[in-house]
Amino acid sequence: MPASSPILPLKAAMSPRAFQLKTRPKALPCPSTSRGANIQLSRSITNGGAGAAADGTHSNATQTRRSLSAAQRKYLDSALRVNQAGELAATLIYTAQIPPIVKTHPHLRPLMKHMYDQEAGHFSTFNELLAKHRIRPTAMYPVWHAAATVLGWGTGMLGREAAMACTEAVETEIGDHYNAQVRELLSWCKDMEERGEDIGDELRTLVERIRKIRDEELEHLDHAVANDAKDANPYELLTGAIRAGCRGAIWVSERV
Ligand SMILES: [Fe+2]
Ligand SMILES: [Fe+2]
Repeated sequence: MPASSPILPLKAAMSPRAFQLKTRPKALPCPSTSRGANIQLSRSITNGGAGAAADGTHSNATQTRRSLSAAQRKYLDSALRVNQAGELAATLIYTAQIPPIVKTHPHLRPLMKHMYDQEAGHFSTFNELLAKHRIRPTAMYPVWHAAATVLGWGTGMLGREAAMACTEAVETEIGDHYNAQVRELLSWCKDMEERGEDIGDELRTLVERIRKIRDEELEHLDHAVANDAKDANPYELLTGAIRAGCRGAIWVSERV
């Protein structure tokens, strides 16, 4: 398989759901540096308040450091843990779907590889973030590992339309999930800006990364619809069950 697969034809038949997700406001741009308090995500950095500078001179507001609040840390731990579990599942779904789908529809190889490669990149991003911020993976990791493999294998064996319907269903839920996170993080940015604080590079970068991943998930949704996801049979039952399963997995992974 070539390393740089062509991106396939797509986007023709965007579903109403995809359109709804795509047209959601991207919310406020994350504010640029304002030289106020510097917000640190890392646990290792404690709240120093408006303290003294290293040389003993009293610092001004530009040197103030603040940590995220306990509630924000909790939210972020939970969100990143769910994201990692979701991306693990996505890579496993494609890993199981690709052999049967490519065997019967060789022209889909570049598309399947393209989506897999993006999911592998997402998974790597959240693995890195969990390690960096010392966030534990979900205790359900082995369960989601097995469930995602079964889902990918099952929809792959059902055929191209079912595999695409699986992607459509998963990405609809995940698009919502990432949109909610982007909105929450942007609200933090806005609050900090209003307090005259600098949001800091870590938070700014995190928002940008989640936005990019969200956009790639919605691209997958478009690919699935353009490749006849809605012709799966039984479409409503299949997508309804997968979407309910995704919501359940997110709910559980947020907590354990
Ligand atoms: Fe992903
Ligand atoms: Fe995806």
